[in-house]
Amino acid sequence: MHQHEQNEEGATREELEQIYGTLREKTPEELAREKEFDPYEPMNFEQIRDLDKKYILGTYARMPVAFVYGTAEFLYDTTGKEYIDFLSGIAVTSLGHANSDLIEALRSQADRLWHVSNLFYNQPSVMLARALVEVTFPGKVFFANSGTEANEAALKLMRAYGQAHAKKKTKIVSLKGSFHGRTFGAMSLTGQEKIHNGFGPLVSDIEFVLVDDTASIVLAIDENTAGVILEPIQGEGGVLPLDEEFIATVRERCNEEEALLVFDEVQTGVGRTGQYFAYQAYKTEPDILTMAKGLGGGFPIGAMLVKDKLSDVFSAGMHGSTFGGNPLATAVGYEVLRTIESQGLLEHAREMGDYLYTGLEELREEFPDLIEEIRGLGLLVGVVLKNSREARPLVEKALSHGLIIGRAGDNVIRLAPPLVVRESSIDAAIEKLRKMFKELK
Ligand SMILES: Cc1ncc(COP(=O)(O)O)c(C=O)c1O
Repeated sequence: MHQHEQNEEGATREELEQIYGTLREKTPEELAREKEFDPYEPMNFEQIRDLDKKYILGTYARMPVAFVYGTAEFLYDTTGKEYIDFLSGIAVTSLGHANSDLIEALRSQADRLWHVSNLFYNQPSVMLARALVEVTFPGKVFFANSGTEANEAALKLMRAYGQAHAKKKTKIVSLKGSFHGRTFGAMSLTGQEKIHNGFGPLVSDIEFVLVDDTASIVLAIDENTAGVILEPIQGEGGVLPLDEEFIATVRERCNEEEALLVFDEVQTGVGRTGQYFAYQAYKTEPDILTMAKGLGGGFPIGAMLVKDKLSDVFSAGMHGSTFGGNPLATAVGYEVLRTIESQGLLEHAREMGDYLYTGLEELREEFPDLIEEIRGLGLLVGVVLKNSREARPLVEKALSHGLIIGRAGDNVIRLAPPLVVRESSIDAAIEKLRKMFKELK
C-alpha cells in the first residue's frame, strides 16, 4: 500500500501507522501462508487432513472424510459425495443439518448480542431454563458448555450436598461400562479403565457396580453415599438400556439413604429416545438431570437441572462458567425445544424408531451369523455384532457406501439418525447396511 492510499475503511497508511506503529510489507512467505489459511478458499480432503495432522493433537482416530455442508439427514464431502447421516455428530444434530428454524434463531440472536458473562442477566437463558423445567420437573438449571461439564457440576453438587449432610457423606456410586466425560471429575465417574489409563490418581471415593446387578448396588448405596450417577441407557457402553426394576431399586435405596440420584442424559436426552428424556419412559425421576449434545442441535451447550429441594446446595460463588448460559447457545437451545414441540418430533422419533427397529430386525434374521441383537430406544439404536466382532471396520465400510454410522463399545454399531429422519432415508440406510453385511458373509 502506498503512503496515502486509503484502505477499505478509509484510513490512510499514515493514520494506521500512528495507531499500530510502522507497518511493513508482507513477505512472499507470509502472503503464501495467508492464502493457505484463507477459510474462503475451499481445500481438498488431503489439504485438510495434512493440516489436521500438523496442527491438531492426535486425540481422535478420524475417518478419512471432511464434510463441507449438510441438509437434514444428508451430508456432503469435499468431493460432493452424498452420505446419509445416521450418527448426527454422535447424537447432537437432532433437528438435522442446516435446520432453517435453528439458523434463524442463531442469526437473530447473533445480530443482537453474543456474550455478556454471568455477571449479568440475559433473556435467552431464562427462556431455555423455563422451557426445560416445563418438560421435566420443578427445579432449577445450571448452564455449562458440554456434557462433561454438566456432569462435573453434578459431581460437585453431590459432594456439596453430602458434606452438608449430618453424616458428611462423600461416596459416589457409578456403573461399570458407563461414560460421563473426559474432564477429571467426569472421567473419574466413568466406569471404563481404558478412559482412566495414564491419568491417576483419580477423584477418590467412587465405587463402581455392574449394570443391573441389583444385589450389589443395594449394598453399595449406604449411609456414606452422597449420590449415584447412571445413564438410563448406556451410550458409549454399547447402547445398553438398563433394567427398569434395577433403576427403580436404585431410586428406592437413594431415598432410604438420603443419597442423590443423577441421571446422565447427555446422550439420551432432548427427544433422542422419543421422550424428552429417557427417564420419562422408565417412569423413575432423578434428583438431578444432566444433558448436552441434542440440546443445542449442534451448538455447544450443556446443562444440569436439579430438583427444587436442591436449589440451595450451591450458593453464589460455589460454581460457575464464563460461557455457560450464553445468549447464542441458549437461544438455539430454546428453539430446539420449541421445534420438537411444534413439529411433534417426539412422536415422529418413536414412529421412526419403530420403523428402523423393524428394518434392522429383518437384517438380523437375514444375517444371524453377523448380528446378535438390536437394542435401544426411539432413535438411539445399537446393533450388537456376533462373536464380539469389531465394529470399527464396519463403520468404515458403511462410510464408503455413503452411510454414516458409529460405534459404541468395541462390538456394537450405533445408529442415531436425526429426529427429523424420513422413512425413505431409513429404507435407503437399511439397503446400504444389507449390502455391507452381504459383502461380509
Ligand atoms: C452419557 C454421556 N455423558 C457425558 C458425555 C460427555 O459429553 P461431552 O463430550 O459433551 O463432554 C457423553 C459423550 O459422549 C455421553 O455420552
